[in-house]
Amino acid sequence: MEAIKTDSNHLHTFVLLGASGDLAKKKIYPTVWNLYRSNLLPISIKFIGYARTKQSILEVKEKCKKYITVPKGEERKYEEFWAANEYLAGSYDQKADYEKLNQEISKFETELVANRIFYLAVPPAVFEDVTVNIKNACTATKGYTRVIIEKPFGRDDVTAAKLGNHLAGLFDEEHIYRIDHYLGKEMVLNLMTLRFANQIFSPIWNNDIIASVIISFKEPFGTEGRGGYFDDIGIIRDVMQNHLLQILSLIAMEKPVTLKANDIRKEKVKVLRHIKPITMDDILIGQYVGNPDGQGEEKLGYLDDPTVPKDSITPTYAVAGLWVNNARWQGVPFVLRAGKALNERKAEVRIQFHDMPGDIFDGEAKRNELVLRVQPGEAVYTKIMSKSPGMMFDLVETELDLTYSTRYKDAKYPDAYERLVLDVFNGNQTHFVLDDEVKEAWRIFTPILNQLEGQKVKPLPYKFGSRGPPESDAKLAQYNFKYSGSYKWEKPSPSK
Ligand code: BG6
Repeated sequence: MEAIKTDSNHLHTFVLLGASGDLAKKKIYPTVWNLYRSNLLPISIKFIGYARTKQSILEVKEKCKKYITVPKGEERKYEEFWAANEYLAGSYDQKADYEKLNQEISKFETELVANRIFYLAVPPAVFEDVTVNIKNACTATKGYTRVIIEKPFGRDDVTAAKLGNHLAGLFDEEHIYRIDHYLGKEMVLNLMTLRFANQIFSPIWNNDIIASVIISFKEPFGTEGRGGYFDDIGIIRDVMQNHLLQILSLIAMEKPVTLKANDIRKEKVKVLRHIKPITMDDILIGQYVGNPDGQGEEKLGYLDDPTVPKDSITPTYAVAGLWVNNARWQGVPFVLRAGKALNERKAEVRIQFHDMPGDIFDGEAKRNELVLRVQPGEAVYTKIMSKSPGMMFDLVETELDLTYSTRYKDAKYPDAYERLVLDVFNGNQTHFVLDDEVKEAWRIFTPILNQLEGQKVKPLPYKFGSRGPPESDAKLAQYNFKYSGSYKWEKPSPSK
């Protein structure tokens, strides 16, 4: 494993652009605070928030309060953290404002080496302006300049290529950190270890043994007033083309030569290159409607959100079948399923194995499954058949279970953003998205998005709080996935 090699001897400035926005207060300030209080950041560090809103750092501190936890006894450290913070208001498009930002940063750079990290928590519409201005007015002269950007990386192959070329004209790939926060989640990080550190999985990881792979993302809430933003994007761009496809690459990729960032990312790109663009036969889309029997918000459908156009056909749910056209995976469907306003919050990978050949149990043996639960409650379990205990010779479905909350009771998992931001300080790009991955992801998804939008395909309705459009079960059945409905995973009670 790559050792942590934070350059802790030198001054670092962390500039958060978009410091007045939602992402900044909900995620990025809490993230840097948690890293700071755990003494994981360089000792000599300065944080500068930058955005259009005119406000003081005290106002920023106040807005973040709700989202930050200060453990007892760490109040002084917390004040010390905010004392290391500054805020500067400025435009996103005027070079003169960035010159002021540069002066602000330079004020602290009295040492021989001074590194700069810019986090762009800004709307995609200003990505280009911001990066040009950082390059022209704020590039570090005494150390490195690293730039972190958040998805969306374009909205189709053409816009993504434009953004990619723009960034490549300004910074080397090794200085660009494209965040997909799913790559910082504990179970997603565990995928490589489970696959490549366990010989039991090697011989079964192919189309001889595996029937289908379902990667699901479910959220129990709707757009919650963010409809205006979401309507332009839809669930396919929001979650599927990035978070779920990243998980797919980690499940399907070949073993990398080493654990170095570029070796891993090369294998991920390779597997994406084996996937053909999704066709109309391999997609189902849905949009939630109000549930008259539901509670509160559940009564309202997507189209009831006042920020959504009344005739919107933006999907809030989708099932897409992808085929990895190589020797290992030929014929195995990889089904991505994502939806908002569903019955539960869950992200998981479900690998279903073929039926047992040469059945001697009169069809009673259900398929084995390997389930990797990303959230909530990280767990890895295998569904197996076992003899029911006692005099009977019946079969029962049971599990071999690694539930993190019982096995690792005292373990603390940092938020995905904490790991990833720390990786930027450490110069580790393993869990960031390579430009080529973005290109391949859009190659796979752009034609179907164009068709759905061009032909104005109407999404199937589903009730807020349901499992999705009723038609989706039949769709899943097309992908060699057998849902028996007879097994229910029980959270193990903590061991004594
Ligand atoms: C974001 C999407 O990338 O991921 C949101 O834009 C979604 O729509 C979120 O809610 C889910 O992240 P998490 O970490 O809560 O699963």
